[in-house]
Amino acid sequence: ITGSGASSKVIATLPSGESVEVLLFGATVISWKSGGGENLWLSEKAALDGSKAVRGGVPVVFPVFGPPPKEGHATSKLPQHGFARTSRWEFLGKSTSEDALDTSSVKLDFGLSSSSLSEDARSQWPLDFGLIYSVTLSKDSLQTVINVRNEGETSFEFQFLLHTYLRIKDITKVEITGLLGVDYIDKVLNATTHKQSEPSIKISGEVDRVYGPIPQDTTTVVEDGKPRFDVVRDNLQDTTIWNPWTEKAKAMGDFAPDSGFKEMVCVEVGAVNGWQKLDKGEVFEGGQTMKSLL
Ligand code: BG6
Repeated sequence: ITGSGASSKVIATLPSGESVEVLLFGATVISWKSGGGENLWLSEKAALDGSKAVRGGVPVVFPVFGPPPKEGHATSKLPQHGFARTSRWEFLGKSTSEDALDTSSVKLDFGLSSSSLSEDARSQWPLDFGLIYSVTLSKDSLQTVINVRNEGETSFEFQFLLHTYLRIKDITKVEITGLLGVDYIDKVLNATTHKQSEPSIKISGEVDRVYGPIPQDTTTVVEDGKPRFDVVRDNLQDTTIWNPWTEKAKAMGDFAPDSGFKEMVCVEVGAVNGWQKLDKGEVFEGGQTMKSLL
């Protein structure tokens, strides 16, 4: 652990040079480097002091995605995207496997439970839960997995999503594949439902779409005709594709530079259509493996 207070973070590196940095605030992965380059986009104005959710990296969205239902749901009092991304997590420890240089990996575990929530969050969602979030760095991949346990007497419902900001060089040269034939809700078009009828998605304006359920395991970000990232879902059926484009980027106080939207695309795997229900003692596990294909 380096740094102190709200800016404490955990840094892990592999003998072959790859690295990952995770802020305890939100258990937010803020850097993932491989092949000498950064794979994640982080705003130059991202708050890294615990004052607000991090703009960039991999914020963890739990127990609600987007604005919660207006009333009548247990999450209704929560802020957009819930409390996981704005809570301080506990670092549970690191485990390494050092086989051959090429196959070694390091796993970092983080925990958050109802008893360690802020008073505000606890009163807004008074349910007993335990989260373990595992971040595993391997030579060409980063795996991030959540384990959600119901530790209370009553059942609860939640949504979960990994709000990953992938770093790309030029959004106009990006195509996203692996979603052909999948239904999506287009939040830019009044939340209407559509079917993905083109094999690849090109981005030339604001995009905010929730795809799901997705039968394919892998979504690929292609740049300049070459595969750049594979995002492989594990026990998660949905994926949001988001780019704020010019106006929305400018309107976000913590999004910098203004032109930063050209160098990022959010591919956000999750379970966000409907709710995951956990009865007393039950556990849910889901996550992603991101592969850098450079
Ligand atoms: C995306 C949502 O996941 O997150 C967008 O689909 C939203 O609608 C975006 O604008 C950013 O949210 P926030 O709360 O980090 O500004």
